[in-house]
Amino acid sequence: IERIGVYTSGGDAPGMNACLRAVVRTALANDLDVMGIRRGYEGMIEGDFVEMDRRSVSNIVQTGGTVLKSARSPAFMNPEGRARAMRMLKEYKVDALVAIGGDGTMRGANILHDEHDIPVVGCPGTIDNDLYGTDTTIGYDTALNTAIENIDRVRDTADAHNRLFLIEVMGRDAGFIALNCGIGGGAEMVLIPETITEMEVVKERLLSLMSAQRRSTIVIVAEGDELGGARGIEKALLDDSDFNDIDLRSTILGHIQRGGSPTASDRVLASRLGVGAVESLLDGHSEVMVGLVNSEVKLTPLRNVWGRKKSIDYDLLKLTQILS
Ligand code: F6P
Repeated sequence: IERIGVYTSGGDAPGMNACLRAVVRTALANDLDVMGIRRGYEGMIEGDFVEMDRRSVSNIVQTGGTVLKSARSPAFMNPEGRARAMRMLKEYKVDALVAIGGDGTMRGANILHDEHDIPVVGCPGTIDNDLYGTDTTIGYDTALNTAIENIDRVRDTADAHNRLFLIEVMGRDAGFIALNCGIGGGAEMVLIPETITEMEVVKERLLSLMSAQRRSTIVIVAEGDELGGARGIEKALLDDSDFNDIDLRSTILGHIQRGGSPTASDRVLASRLGVGAVESLLDGHSEVMVGLVNSEVKLTPLRNVWGRKKSIDYDLLKLTQILS
């Protein structure tokens, strides 16, 4: 390997820049050239490449977003798009890749490798924490802390008005953020995509919580929850006369959770995984994602990363019930 390409793709996550910095500096320390590929697979197809040196990653370890920008690329979904991306990589003499992103990014890297035989190593970057092969993903800890900080703010106003609040957090298919910020934020109820909850059960529990003269009640809802997120549940409650006397509001935290300076733990994780990705390529590994399992850097075959479901901790779910 003489020149690696590195890109960030899909939903950005705090710590992606710290990871990029680690990839670039580790590669340079090993006498490899580095091309940054802007806007993920979209930029790969369009040849939007930029040469990276030590200084191009100065002062970014602390920043959110991604200096390489990110995109979701419909064109890369078809073989023609991927063939064009490969032509660009050849033109720029990129002979190995480090992909930083979530499951869509890992799938893209995997199919590119299968079709065109270019070595690829993935780094897990997503706030959702839904990748198998790493205890936590880059960005998850920051998102969790951001969510909790905002839940605390909502609690103040909920408490002042004795209100019932539905707070929706991100997590299209996974409840990691919801479950953990529910516990950390002292929520009375947590609704996640991994469990099936009947609306009637939710109503019953809420009525019992409210009738216990609580000062405020907070329900954390993952956006992917099957009851339709905070808005869906709000509608169902407003349509029910049993809730006529209950003062109800809903808040969607949304993309606030994706931004901001990465926490110390995300910066360290991102740095370790960035170094690990380049070292793995140099050791001859490919089609793997580098992750942290029980505090050790571990490699997982790319197809397992999304093929196997990373389970939430069901003991934590029980905890939300005990503690509410
Ligand atoms: O995958 C990360 C994530 O933030 C999800 O939690 C969320 O559903 C999605 O991205 C939002 O994507 P977009 O920014 O494209 O709307």
